[in-house]
Amino acid sequence: MTPEEWDAFLQVHHGLPREGPGAPADVQWAVQTIGLHGHVHVLDAGCGPGADMVTLAEGLPEAEITAIDKTGQFIELAQQRAAPFGPRVTAQVGDMAAPDGIYDLIWCAGALYFLGVTDGLRGWHGALNTGGRIAFSHPVLPRTPPSEAVMRFWEEYPEVTDPQGIEDQVTAAGYNVMAHRMIIGAPWQAYYDPMQVRIDTLRDQDTTAAVQAAIAESQTEIDRWRAASDEVAYALLIVAPV
Ligand SMILES: C[S@@+](CC[C@H](N)C(=O)[O-])C[C@H]1O[C@@H](n2cnc3c(N)ncnc32)[C@H](O)[C@@H]1O
Repeated sequence: MTPEEWDAFLQVHHGLPREGPGAPADVQWAVQTIGLHGHVHVLDAGCGPGADMVTLAEGLPEAEITAIDKTGQFIELAQQRAAPFGPRVTAQVGDMAAPDGIYDLIWCAGALYFLGVTDGLRGWHGALNTGGRIAFSHPVLPRTPPSEAVMRFWEEYPEVTDPQGIEDQVTAAGYNVMAHRMIIGAPWQAYYDPMQVRIDTLRDQDTTAAVQAAIAESQTEIDRWRAASDEVAYALLIVAPV
């Protein structure tokens, strides 16, 4: 992406409550399944504007939560959302490839693909406390064979696999899958509905060609999701080191 394209992307994404599919119920499921409670340390890696950070902070009232993202614009919103929880919840610009600290849970919604599942998980071995877990969501094909419509949606991510393909990458990194579930339908709508509103607002404004191109790209993504919304999915996995 050129700097101009990145700027345009950020304009389209300005103020969105989240940067990927997900819902509070997904975070709550992970916390309950792991049995996490008390004064634990949690990293929200690639937190975006901090929607899941808030759910983690609410569900774990004694936890210390560190949220990091490489994108300053998203962190600004995450910091506003962290403020009501006081110093135990912080959001800062950071590189999730090299996290500081030792955590009982690393939560990573829709961001691990930037590092690669196997490389990313391998790199986080040393950042996990004894008994620590990683919960991450990742593109998956829930049906075999996948429809043409769903493959059109994943055109920009041809590495997308079935659930076994993700499990193989987890195993190769030295982890076991403890539990998993699908993110499909409503949590995607929670991501795309605000984006549609933002796009419709920007369309009426006097914007640059780069912003118009970013709007068109996002609209194509939304339209492709709508055409395959019962099949476009993330798998949410809880994994533990072997
Ligand atoms: C699809 S978004 C998901 C954001 C957030 N987890 C959510 O669900 O709203 C992926 C995020 O990963 C962040 N990201 C990508 N590479 C990163 C890195 N190396 N370190 C930190 N954040 C990164 C991006 O800035 C982006 O906010």
